[in-house]
Amino acid sequence: MPMTEQSNTPVHVSIIMDGNGRWAKARGKERIYGHFEGVNSVRACTEAAVEAGVRYLSLFAFSEENWNRPAAEVETLMGLMMRSIEREVDSLMKNGVRFVVLGNLARLSEGLRAAIAGLMEKTAACDRLTLVVFLSYSGKWDILQASRRLAEDVAAGKVRPEDVDQDAFSQYLVTADIPDPDLLIRTSGEQRISNFLLWQCAYTEFYYTDVLWPDFRKPEFRAALDAYAHRARRFGKV
Ligand code: IPE
Ligand code: IPE
Ligand code: MG
Repeated sequence: MPMTEQSNTPVHVSIIMDGNGRWAKARGKERIYGHFEGVNSVRACTEAAVEAGVRYLSLFAFSEENWNRPAAEVETLMGLMMRSIEREVDSLMKNGVRFVVLGNLARLSEGLRAAIAGLMEKTAACDRLTLVVFLSYSGKWDILQASRRLAEDVAAGKVRPEDVDQDAFSQYLVTADIPDPDLLIRTSGEQRISNFLLWQCAYTEFYYTDVLWPDFRKPEFRAALDAYAHRARRFGKV
């Protein structure tokens, strides 16, 4: 886990991409059009992150709770994910972007899981930016799956309870290989965490904007980096 560099550029920027439905509704269209347009924002922010020297960009794409949306919307979102993966391979590789998906992947279709595994393998050696997509993810789910696996290791005698500290516990979260976010952006005016990275955001800087996700492009991304550069992070110290 790389430490935060001595610069004002965040190492890890995370985004709760929100407001697709409202964006579409404002144009008298179905919610799915907002999701389609949102893919262009993903591309723009990925490019902006590479340009700014950000090392990790993570995106909350679908929460465990989002499975409770109407089946048609869930199906469209999963189909969109599949097509985006197929379409973006070349541009990700050209830009040196390593692609990683984290979440409760057992709930995804076999086809989507295979496409994800394929893209992760193809981009495994890319090292300019790691693009993490959180899919079927929730913070409480992550902490629970970590606790369960840790309990199994304790029961099997592989780990002693007294050796479980914060670093040891972190290794059981799905984000084990990824530094905690320095900056968390949420679009669309909502100011809540919605069960995203609960453990990992302990000292993350939050940035809220009223801009809806389909309108969040390079200038908006850079504005968030700018705001971050002026924050004073104290981590509990004076
Ligand atoms: C974010 O946009 C995308 C997902 C959560 C999958 P929404 O679909 O939540 O859009 P709003 O918040 O209803 O406008
Ligand atoms: C959070 O957005 C989840 C994602 C962006 C994937 P939601 O739109 O689902 O969150 P709530 O329901 O407004 O809290
Ligand atoms: Mg929403």
